[in-house]
Amino acid sequence: MVKSYVIRTGHYTLAQKKAYDSLYDKYLIPVSSDGTVDDCFTEKDKLDFKKIFNNSDNVTVEIGFGSGAATAEIAQANPCNNYLGIEVHRPGIGRLLWEIEKQNLSNIRIIEYDAAFAAEKMIADNSLNAIHIFFPDPWPKKRHRKRRLVQRPFTEILANCLKPGGYLYMVTDWEDYANHALEELAGTLYLRNKYDGFASPQLWRPKTRFEQKGLDKNHVIRELLFIKE
Ligand SMILES: C[S@@+](CC[C@H](N)C(=O)[O-])C[C@H]1O[C@@H](n2cnc3c(N)ncnc32)[C@H](O)[C@@H]1O
Repeated sequence: MVKSYVIRTGHYTLAQKKAYDSLYDKYLIPVSSDGTVDDCFTEKDKLDFKKIFNNSDNVTVEIGFGSGAATAEIAQANPCNNYLGIEVHRPGIGRLLWEIEKQNLSNIRIIEYDAAFAAEKMIADNSLNAIHIFFPDPWPKKRHRKRRLVQRPFTEILANCLKPGGYLYMVTDWEDYANHALEELAGTLYLRNKYDGFASPQLWRPKTRFEQKGLDKNHVIRELLFIKE
């Protein structure tokens, strides 16, 4: 699959680096460079969530959490759910680690890797309660659209990871991406739109950094909510 991201070289603060270096072992699920994962593997080579979180609570995956402010807020509000964030932007990972420690959150773990790989190779079928994708990189140029995360075949892999009754929730401020994703999700096997078209705003969702950027440009926020049959 084509990569849906370019590693940003943005500012990596000392606090983020310190958090990353000191908290990596506590909260990150290690992925080695050859694509195999140390520890936490079941015999079927998939993540063992019971072992990772030390409980049997439901697991929500968030892909591309950025700085993780919304992730931490959702996890803090739902202590009986587990959250697995997948991100490739190290400063953002450092920022979330800092927040996890500050708020003493025990229900978040992180994978620093391409979600396309993680979803396919590391997450068992029918194992997730929910998947959150908030403001994925929009790739607005036509020739870059193949890089968009929310399209088949990736949405089919994500649908496989969900438990029946689980949901995939995407939010974007790019109208063209919203329409494209609506078609792609509607065409994804086992997914059913909970709404007739775009979803109503889910009031429990905290505003994210990229959402604010979109609002500053007067973009309309579109929400998509699909359920696994
Ligand atoms: C536009 S930002 C949105 C960040 C955050 N969700 C927000 O709303 O503020 C998209 C994020 O997705 C991450 N990302 C893109 N493709 C990814 C992939 N395949 N695996 C993991 N993270 C990815 C990027 O690194 C980036 O931080």
